[in-house]
Amino acid sequence: MSNLTDSPAWQALSAHQSAIGKLTMRGMFQADPSRFDKFTLQLDGLLLDYSKNLITEETIGLLLNLAGQSKLDDWTARMFDGELINTSEHRAVLHTALRAPRETAIHTGGKDVVPDVHRVLDHMRRYTEAVRNGSLRGHTGKQLRDVVNIGIGGSALGPLMVCEALRPYGSSQLNARFVSNVDATDLVETLKHLDPETTLFIVSSKTFTTQETLANAHSARDWLIKHLGAEEAVAKHFAAVSTNLDATSKFGINPDHVFEFWDWVGGRYSLWSAIGLPIALYIGMDNFEQLLGGAHTMDRHFREMPPERNMPIILGMLGVWYANFFGAGSHAILPYDQYLQHFPAYLQQLEMESNGKRVDRDGKEVDYATQTIIWGEPGTNGQHSFYQLIHQGTRLVPADFLAPINSHNPTGEHHQMLLSNCFAQTEALMLGKNGEEVRAELSAQGHDGAALEALLPYKVFPGNHPTSTLLFDKLDPHTLGMLVALYEHKVFVQGVVWNINSFDQWGVEFGKQLAGKLLPELQARQRVSSHDASTNGLINHYLAH
Ligand code: F6P
Repeated sequence: MSNLTDSPAWQALSAHQSAIGKLTMRGMFQADPSRFDKFTLQLDGLLLDYSKNLITEETIGLLLNLAGQSKLDDWTARMFDGELINTSEHRAVLHTALRAPRETAIHTGGKDVVPDVHRVLDHMRRYTEAVRNGSLRGHTGKQLRDVVNIGIGGSALGPLMVCEALRPYGSSQLNARFVSNVDATDLVETLKHLDPETTLFIVSSKTFTTQETLANAHSARDWLIKHLGAEEAVAKHFAAVSTNLDATSKFGINPDHVFEFWDWVGGRYSLWSAIGLPIALYIGMDNFEQLLGGAHTMDRHFREMPPERNMPIILGMLGVWYANFFGAGSHAILPYDQYLQHFPAYLQQLEMESNGKRVDRDGKEVDYATQTIIWGEPGTNGQHSFYQLIHQGTRLVPADFLAPINSHNPTGEHHQMLLSNCFAQTEALMLGKNGEEVRAELSAQGHDGAALEALLPYKVFPGNHPTSTLLFDKLDPHTLGMLVALYEHKVFVQGVVWNINSFDQWGVEFGKQLAGKLLPELQARQRVSSHDASTNGLINHYLAH
């Protein structure tokens, strides 16, 4: 038993879980008409309804005791104050400084980082306005029309998700495209439709050593030079975003088009930094600053609100409740907003690369579950794909539903149909449909006798499946900023409770290491025997064909 699973707060939750197991949400709603009012929070047009969860007020109290026992408020202060809480890399964790207003001061390593943050934001504004108004043009004098971000993981997923989510705010004169995969198909299929004279590449890489990004950047450079016939074209058609300014200059990028960020910005927390350059080019710097403002609003909410009124703490502790006391293996993100189609994939890295760990801050293997598997697709599409499992499968799949009250594209009854599905799904998942209700329904449809009895078990819905719903006025930059920061802080809360460092990612190194050894073997085209039989077999089969 670890300190955590042996702790009073944990033991109390274990005991409480069996008590809760005897209740149903259907019963809890029937017993308490004010359940919605009790279990909703609101901030700046964002409503979190967490009443359709397997909780009572006692549950929330016990979960918040666990958060308190984990010294969440101390850890939160340490993060915001720039302490080196990313202990295995000896770094601060200050993505919150990226959206801090100009007049604030945030120190780490004896330096106030806010002036640097705003120096880079001012540089981003100058650059993006020049590209968007055409004063900064390509090598042949044409206006730049297609931005191609070359980056992967945190250097792509955030900007990609935000550009898609905020398409209504995007420029009609400029497209944002994203190339990540070292599979040349990603680059080739993107460049196929582009005119080199009007294409701007942004090479985004915190380390500027990532194999995929450098391979794509060099191939894009070759493509540009081949089509424009001049090496000096690179200076006008490439920008770079990195912490590694030596590497960006070695690549030959005009220093005026290099945007720095810092080691206290984690890759998966970096869209607020210059990694957000493609966002700012696409939606404009004013909207980008609205995005930052939304995140700052959520930062203040997270710091200032008491735990029981605190969205990230509530969401985070609900996740702990299901992962650690109900054995949930996954958590679904189901946005009823097509503009959020990339939001589940973005949260996969944010959550799973942050908390997908098995060793705690003291270097000990944990004896409890940590991060669940994050997955999801927009509604209503998911209803025609995997909702069967969520409704009638054998696994508990807690889910977050997200939906805008107002659509950017009001068209006939579409939005009301979308929302009716969103609300109906969480109602159905909570209520279920028992045997009596199914029997009544089937007999009303004319079924009877053996035929009815035969069909009945397949039409029963156990219900009591937990969901939370986030409703917001409109998916605008401020709201998106709040939503993303909400999940960033939810992840932080869970990492604190699980006593893990959410900000390193050693788990990505081993695969890269072995790939580095394997690549020359494929290039040498000699049969191999140095690996296990499967790896040898695969390599030799490849070489033979
Ligand atoms: O997946 C590993 C990782 O280091 C991520 O944490 C990071 O976002 C991504 O690779 C890209 O790294 P870089 O921005 O340094 O190219």
